[in-house]
Amino acid sequence: MELFSLENKYILLSFVLSKTSMMKKILAFAGSNSSTSINKQLVTYASSLVENVKVNILDLNDYEMSIYSSDREKNSGHPQQAIDFVEQIKNSDGIIISLAEYNGAYSGAFKNIFDWVSRVEQKTFFGKPMLLMATSPGQRGGLSVLGMASDRFPRHDANIVGKFSLPDFHKNFSDGKIINEELNKKLVEEVKQFSESL
Ligand SMILES: Cc1cc2nc3c(=O)[nH]c(=O)nc-3n(C[C@H](O)[C@H](O)[C@H](O)COP(=O)(O)O)c2cc1C
Repeated sequence: MELFSLENKYILLSFVLSKTSMMKKILAFAGSNSSTSINKQLVTYASSLVENVKVNILDLNDYEMSIYSSDREKNSGHPQQAIDFVEQIKNSDGIIISLAEYNGAYSGAFKNIFDWVSRVEQKTFFGKPMLLMATSPGQRGGLSVLGMASDRFPRHDANIVGKFSLPDFHKNFSDGKIINEELNKKLVEEVKQFSESL
């Protein structure tokens, strides 16, 4: 005997679909193009702590473009990847980013995307709630790049509602999660604030 009639199956499917479409959409990415990125690991973990949302984790390698130049822009316009990246931000309800720190600044991979997308849309982040993070293997946990982005992103309409830096990544992160209780508690608090602002 069938457990559900065809009609009940339809009702159940409609309910599931309506719930899914009502779910908030989170865009998450690391400011790194490394296949073993520690920032990607952190951003994946932080996104998993946000309840009842759909998470879309981007890979910067899918948005690799020629280095920005005003000549290229004049001659060829904006690359499709830059337009697509802006669309991804526009279609999200919130953004979680973890920036890699290279020589005290953004990685080249992220900076190039940022340069291009800021040319497509100066208000790059569309006022979406943002949880901004950084981690590094060192004691400062990417604080320099975090400070740089905290200063710059609001000029591109970022609404930074939480910040988090994870120092000594390899000491404090294992098996996909933060193992230092105090640091984990701090991240959970920041995620809560982020979730409430969606
Ligand atoms: C060129 C270069 C510069 C770096 N500069 C810094 C730095 O200024 N501060 C820091 O904490 N780590 C620095 N690092 C170490 C990175 O934080 C480390 O490679 C980290 O894994 C990068 O993040 P990702 O794994 O998400 O790409 C640097 C690494 C490279 C390759």
